[in-house]
Amino acid sequence: MRTKRWLVTDPTTVQGMKDLHEAAKLIKAGELVAFPTETVYGLGANALDGQAVAKIFTAKGRPQDNPLIVHVANVEQLKDLVKDVPDYVYKLIAEFSPGPVTYILPAAEQIPQEVTAGLATVGIRIPDHSVAHRFLNQVAFPVAAPSANTSGKPSPTSANHVYEDLSGKISGIIDGGKVGVGLESTVIDCTGSIPVILRPGVVTAGMLANCLQEDIADFISSEGESTPRAPGMKYRHYAPEMSLVLVGNGPARVQAVIDEANEAGKRVTLFARKALLEKVSDIDTICLSDDLADIARNLYDYLRMFTSTERDLLLFEEMPKEGIGIALMNRLEKAAVTENE
Ligand code: TXA
Ligand code: MG
Repeated sequence: MRTKRWLVTDPTTVQGMKDLHEAAKLIKAGELVAFPTETVYGLGANALDGQAVAKIFTAKGRPQDNPLIVHVANVEQLKDLVKDVPDYVYKLIAEFSPGPVTYILPAAEQIPQEVTAGLATVGIRIPDHSVAHRFLNQVAFPVAAPSANTSGKPSPTSANHVYEDLSGKISGIIDGGKVGVGLESTVIDCTGSIPVILRPGVVTAGMLANCLQEDIADFISSEGESTPRAPGMKYRHYAPEMSLVLVGNGPARVQAVIDEANEAGKRVTLFARKALLEKVSDIDTICLSDDLADIARNLYDYLRMFTSTERDLLLFEEMPKEGIGIALMNRLEKAAVTENE
């Protein structure tokens, strides 16, 4: 299959509209089209067409038990896809949508089970991206879309990442440039009396609590539960081609890890902020920004930067688990090699 690419920098120009029209035609015909959002690129199919949605799992090599997020242009469209929406959801939507938040709600009958992976709930998101917004309006139906990467690999934050993973396997890629946030949306279970975060993102528990003016449960890890509530969180994710090890606990400890890798003859790169880089030696380095939002935005570029023919090991400095650092460390810990692996 030939994968078409459209560069849409401005969806309001004649060329932009023409390209989105062409992309919409393909997805309407039951094909897969990748598109940019503010978080990461999504791999879209008509959410109301089970056969089209099934193609997503094949193209990505995605486990069948991992449900998909449905993308809509506005809250009216959202209402058609869910039932029993608690009042607090509308408060959250007013504050955070369009934006990097996914609301898990009881699914309406019309949602095919290819989308929900057989669950009674569905995740809905209104992305905050001009190209995604135009595209969703153009197609008019809701669009099911996981991140547009091969399952297990880092999510795509540029059209080139999508192309690397899925060229020849999907019909088209709308190239809207590099994304803004760089980490996937905050997934919030909204089926209970209070919202519960299943996957952390740039919108944090503190921001939800602030919006609702009440204490809410903090991020609840699904790890270790027999049936994790966000099924996707149980798989190894975001993994670069080579081993990734998180390093912290001061420069002496980091230097010891470097020395050990050097002695073993490993080709290593350390990703760290300037303060740490100044205190270690004998190592190839990439300097990270002091702004955690910048690191988040570039994280998947870093994890895709080297191939296994170039490096044996990546070391990455541990980040403080506050604000977006919570989501950043969640992704890094899933990408990293742990002792029991
Ligand atoms: O930012 C994002 O959320 C991106 C863009 C494209 O919107 N999408 C994304 O989708 O990251 P995906 O499929 O890579 O991750 C969706 C996560 C998975 O962990 C999945 O298990 C969880 O959301 N999820 C989806 N539907 C769910 C449901 N009904 N109940 C619980 N978890 C659900
Ligand atoms: Mg994903």
